Amino acid sequence: MNAITTGAAVVTGAGRGLGREIARLLHARGLTVHVTDIDGEAAEAVAAELGDRAWSSALDVSDAEACRTVARRSVERAGALAVWCNNAGVLHTGVSWEHDEAARRLMLDVNAHGTMNGTIAALEHMRPADQGHVLNIVSLAGLVAAPGEVVYAASKHAAIAFSIGTLADLRRTGSRGVHISCVCPDGIWTPMLFDELDNPETAASFQGVLLSPEYVASRAVTLLDRPRPVLTIPRHRGLVVRLFDAAPALAVRLVPHVMADARRRQRRLAKRRARGEDVRPRR
Ligand SMILES: NC(=O)c1ccc[n+]([C@@H]2O[C@H](COP(=O)([O-])OP(=O)(O)OC[C@H]3O[C@@H](n4cnc5c(N)ncnc54)[C@H](O)[C@@H]3O)[C@@H](O)[C@H]2O)c1
Repeated sequence: MNAITTGAAVVTGAGRGLGREIARLLHARGLTVHVTDIDGEAAEAVAAELGDRAWSSALDVSDAEACRTVARRSVERAGALAVWCNNAGVLHTGVSWEHDEAARRLMLDVNAHGTMNGTIAALEHMRPADQGHVLNIVSLAGLVAAPGEVVYAASKHAAIAFSIGTLADLRRTGSRGVHISCVCPDGIWTPMLFDELDNPETAASFQGVLLSPEYVASRAVTLLDRPRPVLTIPRHRGLVVRLFDAAPALAVRLVPHVMADARRRQRRLAKRRARGEDVRPRR
């Protein structure tokens, strides 16, 4: 497979967190990076950090037409659309019956529809060229129902089903050169989790291996050289959540124990931070 080092790369939600790291690595590969975020100023600051071959736009991924405009402008600027990374995401936690409708809609609009809008906007240019890579940042919550984060998990299940199904449809209709890969990481220490150490509803995010955005970004970008429909990070946690998903009755019985253990880990981290320790993951 040819290494992807030229053309445009669009990253959504790249004003901070994981998206910012992915934008940085794509830029380091030589790609012309279009840094986008609903927070246009944050996107602009990241593009300025990257320097040459980077520019920014404010983009709300729930707006399908705006995604198409970003794709078109990226092609105009760099000649081709090599990579589109659907990274933008939002998390609201709590039991499902306590989410208000606005929170449910927002998660589905950004995490599910946003991924669909971005993928379709990218395919409009990648399919005719029969080349390009759509990188969709999902979550382990896309593979298993995550207690306390259930609407988020539902939105991420939609994103992964859409992604794998669209890849299958690409192959079924003769495309060989366009790839769609999903990244399903465990909890990542980004602003999404910074304020969640005292929230028991988010415990599931702390149950396994807390990862750094730098590490997840580096693994995500390797997919450009070796595309895979789904990459779980770390791999063993992917196996664990898939076992839970395959045995829902058992999983429901085990959840109180698993969540109690996760809450203990989350509390330990909260205590370490309260003592002023550096709680950033080592990898
Ligand atoms: N942090 C974790 O534990 C974790 C774990 C697994 C997967 N993820 C996924 O990784 C991705 C990145 O999350 P993060 O941890 O960096 O979170 P983050 O909250 O730090 O960053 C998310 C970014 O998305 C942007 N955004 C929000 N709504 C948007 C919209 N409508 N349109 C465009 N941009 C929008 C925000 O402004 C922000 O810059 C998300 O898809 C998230 O679901 C995160």
